[in-house]
Amino acid sequence: MGHRAAVVGAGHTRFGVLPDGPRALLRTAVDAAFASVDRGLDRGSVDALFLASLGFGGWQIGNAAALAAEEAGAPGARAVHVENACASGGFAIHAAVDAIASGGAEVALVVGLEKMNDVTNARRRYWLGVSGDTEWERPAGLTFAGVYGLIASRYLALHRVGPEALAEVAVKNHANGALNPNAHFQKTVDRAAVLGAPRVADPLGLYDCCPVSDGAAALVITSPEAARRYTDAPVYIDGLGAASDVLAVQEREEPTQFGATRRAGDAAFRAAGVDRGAMSFLELHDCFTIAELLALEDLGFCARGGAGPLTLSGATRRGGRLPVNPDGGLKSKGHPIGATGVSQAYEVFVQLRGAAGARQVENATRALTHNVGGAGATAAVTIFSTEEA
Ligand code: COA
Repeated sequence: MGHRAAVVGAGHTRFGVLPDGPRALLRTAVDAAFASVDRGLDRGSVDALFLASLGFGGWQIGNAAALAAEEAGAPGARAVHVENACASGGFAIHAAVDAIASGGAEVALVVGLEKMNDVTNARRRYWLGVSGDTEWERPAGLTFAGVYGLIASRYLALHRVGPEALAEVAVKNHANGALNPNAHFQKTVDRAAVLGAPRVADPLGLYDCCPVSDGAAALVITSPEAARRYTDAPVYIDGLGAASDVLAVQEREEPTQFGATRRAGDAAFRAAGVDRGAMSFLELHDCFTIAELLALEDLGFCARGGAGPLTLSGATRRGGRLPVNPDGGLKSKGHPIGATGVSQAYEVFVQLRGAAGARQVENATRALTHNVGGAGATAAVTIFSTEEA
């Protein structure tokens, strides 16, 4: 199957508690993305811009994409705001690829952006909460940590797995994040520290949760045919899969399985025409440690209940058989909501071009990104490669 689009440039801000406002974050990521295009690309060539953002705290709720195009130096481009909670970035990439595949654009800019740390805790809880079920879960006091905590309790009981399987996800992702200069947390943690950390929503403790981060990431995407005009090393997008699920977790048949991820993954593999075994590494949506285990199972990389033993075996470490989240994942790199899915693709871009420095996965040629909205209500899976069609 032929390539659908190609990434020719990618940029990233540092993630963390940052002094910059949203406009400055956006400009930094976009400038870096254009600077990374090997033979340069005039911003006037951008036909379409897709902004991924939850619009945290109420920042420019209406017409945010027009402002983003202006700030990005591409005023006049078709500009669309994509909002699917934490999966906004993945869906914005898909929208750009669809625009290119339909012939509606030759060059598209995708920007993921969130400024989360300039609001009060109460407003932040509200803003995150309205991406979950607002009829039952939020009024019952359930935060996302609460929902994932319930899912984790059930998972551990169902599969007779101990909390050390969750802890290993945090240990691994912090070890990777320690090597990523853009990560919110650049420090290692050991299993004892994870298991002994203050509880947030039992069995999840502080180190089982992603932090609250500011940040932005940007991608320059072109048609596969146009890509070689801009670089000799494009990263191709070969398969997209996206799906949704019942919003309220309590209405799902089995809360420890995310149907949206399963459907999105199956569709992406079908579209790319490759097997799971062909992946050099995975970027999985680990908003809480349990989410990485669920994703490994829902995407078909192991059997139900197999993700704990797989993780404890070391297979998902950077040097393992199936590296997961070499950039530190949401857990350690941080999770500025709209920026996350774009940041995952940034990592694929640098890894597949052999430019990831200390955290490089050796001989990486194919990778998958998995981006989830809320507690599994939406999911976008994308498969990338460096190989010629
Ligand atoms: N992992 C590791 N360390 C963390 C952390 C995390 N997730 N969150 C905060 N910290 C650290 C801080 O750096 C700080 O360290 P310091 O004392 O050395 O400076 C310390 O813990 C306290 O930070 P603070 O910001 O006061 O923590 P908090 O108690 O207000 O928040 C959480 C901690 C886990 C509740 C918060 O990070 C959170 O809500 N995370 C989930 C966000 C979310 O739901 N996103 C959507 C997912 S679907």
